[in-house]
Amino acid sequence: MNNILIEAKNLRKTYTDTVKKLEVLKGIDLEINREDLLVIQGPSGAGKSTLLHLLGGLDMPTKGSVFIDGIDIYGISDNNRANIRSQKIGFVFQFYNLLPEFTALENVFLPAFINRSLKFNKKYLRQEASDLLGMVKLSHRQFHRPYQLSGGELQRVAIARALMNDPEIIFCDEPTGNLDSKTGEEICELLLKLNKDNRKTIVIVTHEQKIASLAKRVIHIRDGQLFNNN
Ligand SMILES: Nc1ncnc2c1ncn2[C@@H]1O[C@H](COP(=O)(O)OP(=O)(O)OP(=O)(O)O)[C@@H](O)[C@H]1O
Ligand SMILES: [Mg+2]
Repeated sequence: MNNILIEAKNLRKTYTDTVKKLEVLKGIDLEINREDLLVIQGPSGAGKSTLLHLLGGLDMPTKGSVFIDGIDIYGISDNNRANIRSQKIGFVFQFYNLLPEFTALENVFLPAFINRSLKFNKKYLRQEASDLLGMVKLSHRQFHRPYQLSGGELQRVAIARALMNDPEIIFCDEPTGNLDSKTGEEICELLLKLNKDNRKTIVIVTHEQKIASLAKRVIHIRDGQLFNNN
C-alpha cells in the first residue's frame, strides 16, 4: 500500500471580488503520509482554514489537485467526493458547525445517516454516538441543543461527531482555540491517542505547544506558501 494518503499538487485558491483578486494559496505542494500527525501553523488570515477545507474536499481549488488514496477528489463528481468524505474524513471546524435544531447526540449521530457504506442500524449507531460523547466527557449533555452548551462543550461535540464514521483521516481546525487550558489539554491527549493508538492520520491547525512538540511534522503557511520547520 502506498504510504502517501493525502497529496496536494500546486494547490491554488484565489478569491475575486469586483475590485481585486486575493491570492490566498499560491501553489501548495504537500504530501501527508498514513498515520501522520501534521501540524499547520501561521498568522491569522494566512489561509490555514482554506487549506484544510481544500485538503478535506470541502471547497473547490482555483487550480491544482488534491489526491486522497490516489483519487483526484476534485476530478470526480460531487457525489463521489461526498462519499469519500463521509467514509474517510472527519472534520472539526474552527466554528463547530453544529446543527442548532438537533441535540448533541443527534449531531454526533448525523454523519452515520450520510455514510451510505454503513448498514443502518439505528440502535447500534445511537449507542456508538453516545459512547463517543462519553469519550469526550459529555454523557451528561447528550440531550442539550447547541445553544445550551458552552464553547468547550460545543467543541467536544464537534470532535465526537468527527469520529462517528471511524474515519481514517481527521482534520482539526484550532480544536482547542475556545477551551480552557485543562479541557484543551484533555482534547490534545485525545487527539494524540487517536493518532498513536487508533492510527488515525491527523492534520491539525493549532498553536498548542504540546501537540506541535509531539507532531511528526510542523509546517508554516505564510504569503500563500508553505515552509517546513524541519
Ligand atoms: N469566501 C471568501 N471570500 C473572500 N475572501 C475570503 C473568503 N474566505 C476567506 N477569505 C480570506 O482568505 C484569507 C484566508 O482565510 P482563512 O480563513 O483561510 O485564514 P486562517 O489562516 O484560517 O485565519 P485564522 O487564523 O484567523 O482562522 C483571509 O484573508 C480571508 O479574509
Ligand atoms: Mg482559520
